[in-house]
Amino acid sequence: MSRVLIGSDHAGFCLKTIVKDWLIKSGYEITDVGCFSESSCDYPVFARDLCEQIQTNTASLGILICGTGLGMSMAANRCKGIRAALCANEYQARMSRAHNDANVLCLGARVLGQDLALSILEVWLKTEFEGGRHKRRVDIIETL
Ligand code: RB5
Repeated sequence: MSRVLIGSDHAGFCLKTIVKDWLIKSGYEITDVGCFSESSCDYPVFARDLCEQIQTNTASLGILICGTGLGMSMAANRCKGIRAALCANEYQARMSRAHNDANVLCLGARVLGQDLALSILEVWLKTEFEGGRHKRRVDIIETL
């Protein structure tokens, strides 16, 4: 996985710039779906735009950042095929990939410090889906 999609609203914009810098330094290519300033905007718009790209290229991964991460995760999880995980620690990040095959990571910029956010991101990107019994459960999610 070398290309990562990323999106935020105004509350997540500052953390998004930090995350983007980290991703680029770590060798990832990124597609930023917006927003592009700290002007007030609507998080579901960016969740939708990012999730549509994942629905087109189902192998891709995305990161969505808003103030709490809640709105982005609610919006993203309305999109078919999207398994968005709001993570506040590295354990959730690891398990959301290993057991839930999360394809979108949601972060709360007003909840997490910068170092913790980057640590969560690193764990999330490096963890592979374990498959097996977890695949059966994820397949059930997709029927809901
Ligand atoms: C914006 O003020 C804030 O509501 C938004 O970033 C997010 O936290 C919503 O869930």
